[in-house]
Amino acid sequence: MNILILGGGGREHALAWAVLQNPKCDKLIVAPGNAGIAQIATCAALDIEDGGAVANFAEENAMDFVIVGPEAPLAAGVADRLRDAGLLVFGPSAEAAKLEASKAFTKEVCDASGAPTAGWARFTEAEAAKTYIRDQGAPIVVKADGLAAGKGVVVAMEEQDALDAIDEMFSGQFGAAGAEVVIEEFMEGEEASFFVLCDGETVLPIGTAQDHKRVGEGDTGPNTGGMGAYSPAPVMSDAVTTRALDEIVRPTMAEMTRRGTPYQGVLYVGLMIRDGAPRLVEYNVRFGDPEAQVLMMRLGGQALDLMLATARGRLDKMQVNWADDHAMTVVMAAQGYPGAYKKGTAIRGLEDLPETSFEMCFHAGTSGTRGEITASGGRVLNVTARGDTLAEARDRAYAMIDRIDWPEGFYRRDIGWRTLEPEAS
Ligand code: AMP
Ligand code: GLY
Repeated sequence: MNILILGGGGREHALAWAVLQNPKCDKLIVAPGNAGIAQIATCAALDIEDGGAVANFAEENAMDFVIVGPEAPLAAGVADRLRDAGLLVFGPSAEAAKLEASKAFTKEVCDASGAPTAGWARFTEAEAAKTYIRDQGAPIVVKADGLAAGKGVVVAMEEQDALDAIDEMFSGQFGAAGAEVVIEEFMEGEEASFFVLCDGETVLPIGTAQDHKRVGEGDTGPNTGGMGAYSPAPVMSDAVTTRALDEIVRPTMAEMTRRGTPYQGVLYVGLMIRDGAPRLVEYNVRFGDPEAQVLMMRLGGQALDLMLATARGRLDKMQVNWADDHAMTVVMAAQGYPGAYKKGTAIRGLEDLPETSFEMCFHAGTSGTRGEITASGGRVLNVTARGDTLAEARDRAYAMIDRIDWPEGFYRRDIGWRTLEPEAS
């Protein structure tokens, strides 16, 4: 089978790595890919948000299956365009991708399906939004409605921060994404990410994870796209998982089907858990990055069978074969990230790292060829390992990092601390 993966980050490197473990994969192309992906698959330059271009490319290269990694092509309708062309695709339609592309849409779906989530209101006008904030008081959460590359959310502990966020969002800084804002009740609790596959009918859980969004150790400093993650998430006990499925995920999926826009693909369910009760923080319509890195390391080659069954509507026939294992990924980023950082610095030592089913260094933002790799992004490497315990996975990941020579990079030394050193939290 010939497979095309769209995307070029650490998530897509992990997806490519898992797909290649499966003997069903004869040929793998990743577009656009990156320097790490180029070491295991063919990379192709392609505008992945242009559905017509992707469909032509897939046909010309006799692709049998297309896996869409990031949200932007999904929101742009690339999966619809590919399905119209008769291709087998993993990823939701543009209409179903609104579960990530519009926060107000998601809130409406939650209300219609009775899924527990933060109380909310929507505004297209700054003064009304500010009046609402003054009425509600802080803490309160302000979100740009649309896709804002993870930057459109302000968790305001002080009322003034929320009012400032309104000015910022309506200033045009987020473009069309900020033309409408959603204001939410602040939820307390512990966060976890829950990943399920859905084929429009059947829902199949494929793992849980927790990530570290803040740049600094002890979860301090500015927000980032994620500095590390681990799986499974201990807070997702069987009881919490069952409640999340019964109260949130299945009702939402049923509502999407009722609306005539069934959801097909992976659903990333961001949860806030308090006293054993999960509430929805957000949906994403793709694998998390870097959560995919730990999920793929745990699932290995069966990830391809699961994604194929999703695309074919046969999830009812599938089950996940779990090893009783743990995985951790540690992000190495360019100094300065998430602010300004230098590009083009040399990374040495990568070619000597182990590449096994227990240890992989996935590339997120790199250029060059093996032996001459340079950093080309903010988050650059995802050093990922698996073990019988989380401590073992952590020790393996940090032992790999010790072998990487990149003076202009940095990483957090405390990924997993809430689980590994609970007394410190
Ligand atoms: P989102 O992009 O919606 O996931 O928001 C980013 C982060 O902001 C989440 O992972 C939470 O840590 C935080 N957050 C979002 N909404 C809320 C809320 N209603 N209450 C508390 N924290 C929130
Ligand atoms: N790691 C957070 C995300 O992928 O949205």
